[in-house]
Amino acid sequence: MSALLRNKILQPLQGDTLAKNKTAAKFSQAVTNYALYANVQKRAANELFKKINPQHAHTCIDLGAGPGVNLVKLNKHFDYVLPFDLSIAMLKQSNVGKTAICGDMDALPFQSSSVDALFSNFAVQWSANLDYLLNEVMRILKPGGRVYLSCVCDGSLNEIKTAFSAVDNQTHVNEFHSFEQINQFVENTGFIIKNAELKCYQDVYPSPLHALRSIKAIGATHLHSQNKRQGLLTKSALKKVCEQYPLIANQVAVSYQVALLSLQKE
Ligand SMILES: C[S@@+](CC[C@H](N)C(=O)[O-])C[C@H]1O[C@@H](n2cnc3c(N)ncnc32)[C@H](O)[C@@H]1O
Repeated sequence: MSALLRNKILQPLQGDTLAKNKTAAKFSQAVTNYALYANVQKRAANELFKKINPQHAHTCIDLGAGPGVNLVKLNKHFDYVLPFDLSIAMLKQSNVGKTAICGDMDALPFQSSSVDALFSNFAVQWSANLDYLLNEVMRILKPGGRVYLSCVCDGSLNEIKTAFSAVDNQTHVNEFHSFEQINQFVENTGFIIKNAELKCYQDVYPSPLHALRSIKAIGATHLHSQNKRQGLLTKSALKKVCEQYPLIANQVAVSYQVALLSLQKE
């Protein structure tokens, strides 16, 4: 693995360190129930697996690997899969593979032209600078290297936004890049776009409360920005949020708009 790493000492977290620590803490708290609730994430990952070039490649980084839910399948495609995540608790949960790196995707510690592929499912929306991250992914890939990426886009979690608008005007869910913006970043980076699609995934829950809990259970309750509302709601505010929760075809759904990308470095 040392052949992959840029420095012996990992680089410090870039950007808003406090926000990164909070994100890591949220995901660490979510570790026990993550796999149970991460249905949409599983569906997106399956879509990405279909895009993997059957030609065998040696090294693949699983960026934002979480509790290692994709490692068994990735190990079938690549000789060496390296999980990388901000949350040490998430990485400890994964029992596939002996080595993992706890680090920040906004400060990738890898050598230039050192990896054959990068897989990342439902994680890069947490980057503080997606444009920069994609340039860094380009840097660390070998020529001909592949990227299999899913990223949550704007229009996601709209039901949660609407429900919370019952209690205040503050932002309760993260803002995401649009599919067009993500494509623009990819084009600017110079990747060959093998495939790019936008899919809507929905999970259905027995009640608004279950829907709100599901968001918490996957660690997605932390907001990137510090001046947005976080924390507990009073009982009456929670009741209002649940009453205001919009139904889709009479069902309580949580929707995600997800960009699914297959890219190649020239
Ligand atoms: C929604 S989970 C996705 C887990 C897994 N890839 C899957 O398919 O289910 C997002 C993961 O991204 C990680 N993450 C968030 N911000 C990160 C960062 N700045 N650097 C590295 N990983 C990060 C979280 O700790 C979490 O494990």
